[in-house]
Amino acid sequence: MTSSTTETVAVPATSTKLAAGQKHRVLSGMQPSADSLHLGNYIGALVNWVRMQDEYDAIFFIPDLHAITVPQDPAELAKRTRVTAAQYIAGGVDVDKCTLFVQSQVPEHAQLAWVLNCITGFGEASRMTQFKDKAQKQGTDQASVGLFTYPILQAADILLYQPHGVPVGEDQRQHVELSRDLANRFNSRFGETFQVPEAFIQKESAKIYDLQNPTAKMSKSAESPAGLINLLDDPKTTAKRIKSAVTDTETEIRFDREAKPGISNLLTIYSTISGRPVEKIVADYEGRMYGHLKVDLAELVTNHLTPIRERAHELLADPAELDRLLAHGADKAREIASATLADVYAKVGFLPYGSQQGAR
Ligand code: TYM
Repeated sequence: MTSSTTETVAVPATSTKLAAGQKHRVLSGMQPSADSLHLGNYIGALVNWVRMQDEYDAIFFIPDLHAITVPQDPAELAKRTRVTAAQYIAGGVDVDKCTLFVQSQVPEHAQLAWVLNCITGFGEASRMTQFKDKAQKQGTDQASVGLFTYPILQAADILLYQPHGVPVGEDQRQHVELSRDLANRFNSRFGETFQVPEAFIQKESAKIYDLQNPTAKMSKSAESPAGLINLLDDPKTTAKRIKSAVTDTETEIRFDREAKPGISNLLTIYSTISGRPVEKIVADYEGRMYGHLKVDLAELVTNHLTPIRERAHELLADPAELDRLLAHGADKAREIASATLADVYAKVGFLPYGSQQGAR
């Protein structure tokens, strides 16, 4: 991706004042629930994270506690957690510039989540649309209580680190809103404790759609893998999927999300990966066929993803080193998380550990 690529996250001006030399903090995560991240995760999230790590005090993590809200094979989960970490790093997340860790290695997430569970209304949690969608798919009896309280764990992920911004896609906006509501509620009941975070929502131009069903977002839970471009797929599979992408019965290459969702999605991918504005690409392809655009895009995407895939495999070849990097990240994260949790526990009225010992 070239440096000329336009910003894909809308970053509102935050009102928080900073001390000299201090940076605004951002925090985000992607679930380790597939064997590979897909192009939506990459363009919609990872690319922006990499840009943000210079300007912000950035914290990125792998929410494995969230992954077990639906059944997981234990060996697969461990593998996917490393695979996700390797892709963050291969995609440009730099552990020397930011904090990178695995959620379950920082126990404060689950501890704060419990406190937040106790100040969240049942009706409030019931209004979370992602739960409704997923529970509907699985059947309410199959859906776990963990899936129901998932957004409250997400609020704990966020509030522990006092971030100013949470860069996510539109699908996560409601969860960031809940974390704002819970921060405000806790602050007004117990005194100023949490920074109230802003959602930094990715622009529509960073949303990537399914290649086979271009009105639905690209998602690991899609019915068919044919609609996905995975970061770790071999180039032949990726090229085949792009060349088989659903388009329309016209021949003209132009951007029209409503009338031509398939071609518009391909143009979005082309533009974000090449760093060229959509209008310039449309002008280049005037009078040419959809097939020409697909062949060129397949080459562009596979060339772009090949070094990322290779780097991820290199990192995965040395799991001990990867685990060491993650443990170091967890230590850094715990310094912040434990201070916030201690403050929360004291404000709620929990006895400090030392005083229990003294009373014995
Ligand atoms: P997850 O793992 O579903 O998605 C990770 C990020 O990728 C974005 N995204 C997309 N962007 C563009 N096009 C697409 N097709 C596309 N698909 C996914 C998502 O908007 C998201 O930004 N609950 C979160 C994980 C989480 C979290 C957090 C995030 C747990 N705790 C705290 C931020 C802060 C989730 O399941 O994201």
